[in-house]
Formats: sequence, structure tokens, C-alpha cells
Amino acid sequence: PVPVILDCDPGHDDAFNILLAAAHPAVELLAITTVAGNQTVEKTTLNARRVCSAAGIRGVPIAAGRDRPLHGPRRVAENIHGGSGLDGPGFGEGEPDVPQDPRDALTLIRDTLLAHPSPVTLVPTGPLTNVAAFLLAHPGLAARIERIVLMGGSTGRGNTTPAAEFNILCDPEAADIVLGSGLPVTMFGLDVTHQARATPEVVARIAALGTPLSRLCVELLTYFASTYREVYGLDAPPLHDPLTVAHLIDPSLVRLVRAAVRVELRGTYTRGATVVDLDGVTGLPAETEVGVELDADGFWDLIVEAVRVLGG
Ligand code: BDR
Ligand code: CA
Repeated sequence: PVPVILDCDPGHDDAFNILLAAAHPAVELLAITTVAGNQTVEKTTLNARRVCSAAGIRGVPIAAGRDRPLHGPRRVAENIHGGSGLDGPGFGEGEPDVPQDPRDALTLIRDTLLAHPSPVTLVPTGPLTNVAAFLLAHPGLAARIERIVLMGGSTGRGNTTPAAEFNILCDPEAADIVLGSGLPVTMFGLDVTHQARATPEVVARIAALGTPLSRLCVELLTYFASTYREVYGLDAPPLHDPLTVAHLIDPSLVRLVRAAVRVELRGTYTRGATVVDLDGVTGLPAETEVGVELDADGFWDLIVEAVRVLGG
């Protein structure tokens, strides 16, 4: 199996990526680190613990990371993910039984990379603050990172400004560091993640599993659908983040192209945009893999199967 560290900001779609990574035998989920993004890091950490508790995912350490971007103010996505960052299901007020690791995210990433016999794949599905901070703090450990497979950016329009996607806009400097790190990066941006729509048919398949976890997943998707309808007028919300782990499980699910990718740091209207040179017109080396086309049926088969396996 592919050894993986998830760095995330759950977040409805992040939650499904945790389920997929924990459920599928092709992935070895070594650790989960959290970052501020969809909500504050306090909330995204609690949410990661809630998801793991509800799904019976035990023994995977969960550590909290950065609560602010490297530069500029923090932004959250309350309009999409709600005040808790994971609105919809009633998790109750009690503490989830999966604990928080006492280490901070950077220490957990370091310890995990050092302990694992082979290089580990990093899967960031939130702002890239933790990953950039890690690369800055531990340049000597970059060789222990196999590759970085992230959700973020877009080859065209954004979703938070006309030009910028949320994860990149939250911390453009961090994204610039990660994309310029020299490590192999695979990017799943909005163009391809918008092909993973949680349609009523998909929700019905999950509901039909009839387990407590499937009910929770339906509640998550129902809430996510309501905010996507309200904010973007979309009928079925795109489940962005799990394209990353789905790609690790089955590389044939997403068609990739290679391109030079740069992050706009200074534009008047375009800060946080990913500029993707699909036509190779800049002459810059095409060093980033960019997802462009998804086998949506194959993707949803993996998600439904993950919920089934974990739901007992
Ligand atoms: C990304 O932003 C977040 O709201 C989602 O969890 C996803 O990672 C999509 O732009
Ligand atoms: Ca996310």
C-alpha cells in the first residue's frame, strides 16, 4: 500500500477523503494533520477526530497544525462548511473518543517520515501552510517525501474569487513554496474536482447502505448540497478532496497532463490564482502533474465502497 499522511481542514469533502484513505487497502494511512482553512484549526482538528470516531478509525494519530497562513489574514469557509466546519450531522456536544495527539502537526509529520522505512506521500487538501512550514523547517527531510498529491487551484476560474480557488487563496505564499519545492507535485484543481458531483443518485447509493456511518455521510452531503446550491446555484456539490486519494488507489481514474504551474502572489484581482501553462507557451519546465479528466463513476464506486467497508 501507498503510505500516506493526510493534511486537511475537515470540511465535508475532507471528511470523505479520510474515510477513503482509512478504508482502502491500497493506502496505508499513517497520520492526519490539520490546518486552518474551512474553519479554525481548533475546529478542523475536532472534526477530524469526530470523523475518525464515527467511522471507527483508531490508531491513526491526529495532530493540529497552523491556525494562520504564512502571510496575511486568515479566511474560513463558513458559507460552505458552516460554523463548525462540518455542519449537518448532529455530532452532539461530547468529546469524540479518538484523541488528539499531543505533538504539533510539523512534529508528527517529521516523526512519521523518520519512522517509515520508505518515502511517504503527502496529501494536502486544505491551505498549504503546514506543508510549506514543514519544508522550510526540515529541508533535509524532503527526500523522505515520495510526492505531494494535493487538492487546490484551477486551470481556469476560481471559486472564492473569480481567479482563485479557496485552498490556494488562503495561503498563496505557502502554495508557491510547495509548488516550487522541487518535489513531484500532482494537483487536482477545480476543473477536475467539479466532475465529482454528489448527485441525488450518489446520495441514494450511500443511503441504501443503511449503516450509522452511511446516515452520517448522507447528512454531510445534504448540508454540503444546500450551501453549494445557495452560494453557487449548483444542483449537486463537487466532492473535491477525495480525488487525491482516489488517484493513489487507482491512477487510471484521473487523466493527468504535465504543465508549469505558478501561483499569482501580487495581482490586483488575481492573488491566489494558479497559472497553469497547459499549452507550454512560457517555456518553463512542465514539472507539475495536473488532473484534467475524471472517471466519475469509478470515483463514486470507491467512495460508496469505503462507506460500506467502514460502516461494518
Ligand atoms: C477546497 O476548499 C475547501 O472548502 C474544500 O474542502 C476543498 O478542499 C475546494 O476549493
Ligand atoms: Ca479541504
